[in-house]
Amino acid sequence: MKKKIWILCCTVLFIIIVLSIYISTDNFKLKNLNYSNKTIKLINEENITKKVLDKGYSKTLETALINDEFDYNNFDLYYNFRDIDNDDYIKKLNILSKLGYSVNDIKLILKKISFKDIDYITNNVYISNLKDYLSFNNFDITRLNRYINYKNLNSDLNMETIILNVNMDFDKTPYEDYNIVSNVDDIKVLVNKFNRLPDNYKPNDLSKIDKKYSSKELYLRKAACIEFNKMCSDALSLGLKIIAVSSYRDREYQENLYNNYSIERGQDMADNFSARPRFSEHETGLSIDIMGSNEDYNKFSSTDEYKWLEDNAYKYGFIIRYPKGKEDITKYMYEAWHIRYVGEDSAKYIYDNKITLEEFLALQDK
Ligand code: DAL
Ligand code: ZN
Repeated sequence: MKKKIWILCCTVLFIIIVLSIYISTDNFKLKNLNYSNKTIKLINEENITKKVLDKGYSKTLETALINDEFDYNNFDLYYNFRDIDNDDYIKKLNILSKLGYSVNDIKLILKKISFKDIDYITNNVYISNLKDYLSFNNFDITRLNRYINYKNLNSDLNMETIILNVNMDFDKTPYEDYNIVSNVDDIKVLVNKFNRLPDNYKPNDLSKIDKKYSSKELYLRKAACIEFNKMCSDALSLGLKIIAVSSYRDREYQENLYNNYSIERGQDMADNFSARPRFSEHETGLSIDIMGSNEDYNKFSSTDEYKWLEDNAYKYGFIIRYPKGKEDITKYMYEAWHIRYVGEDSAKYIYDNKITLEEFLALQDK
């Protein structure tokens, strides 16, 4: 009996010893941290057991090991971004680190750039001032190389101007390197020397301007028309006569107009004040040329109507589209008579900040 008890005690002791040896093994500790057996094997193979035990669990590390994306140099990175379970994502992390970006840089990149756009950075060389670019809300990652090239050609310009100018396509050649407008029905649509209307575009909500406020039968898109009539009526109640002389034009009309100006004054001169067909915002049905009580739109800027309009058009959603002093931006000479409907909020912002539609859109968050 005594012997039996003795054997039992020895067995229990043995089990306790074996168990405590097992519990004190690194593999058991790794298991306890939640790593899978497969990962534990890989951790051992990579000789990083002690480091892992020190740092704890990282889903990112586990994913990197299992998908054969583990890079010893990026060990700390896998703990700075602990929760990544996407193999592609880890590939990008490795590349960013290899390119020379610090952990803080990478944190910023991942905060500002969506995963689908990371390739704009990973496919590039290391960009030392990327942080500066990323600090601008109107920075558009899809234009990254354009900003860099433009900066190289214009090293005297500050970052803010580089981003603004490229957003306005000033790194391109007017009329040669243009976009086809996609948001054709948007009241904020931009049509200029870099943005061409699609061949078949015609607004589908054209409305006739009240004949009291137009020199002939003229049309505008509905929202613009309602506001134009309202603005002219309010102006009239103050004794001011605003009259539309040209508004919606179809492509053919614009083409004839532009060709005639080109023949009369030469193409270079015509390009200063007349848009080529499909590049004219008159074809959007959102623009109007107006005259005042002197009945000469060319001399509109000297009228009381113009003075009133300058400070009141925005209340109806209109802006003076080609202002004085902004010729470098609009790429057209000053046209006091050409107003454009953009909606009340945008018009107020443009008026308050003394900017153009080009600048307004280029400043928007990207
Ligand atoms: N006058 C403006 C630029 C146009 O022709 O559309
Ligand atoms: Zn015009």
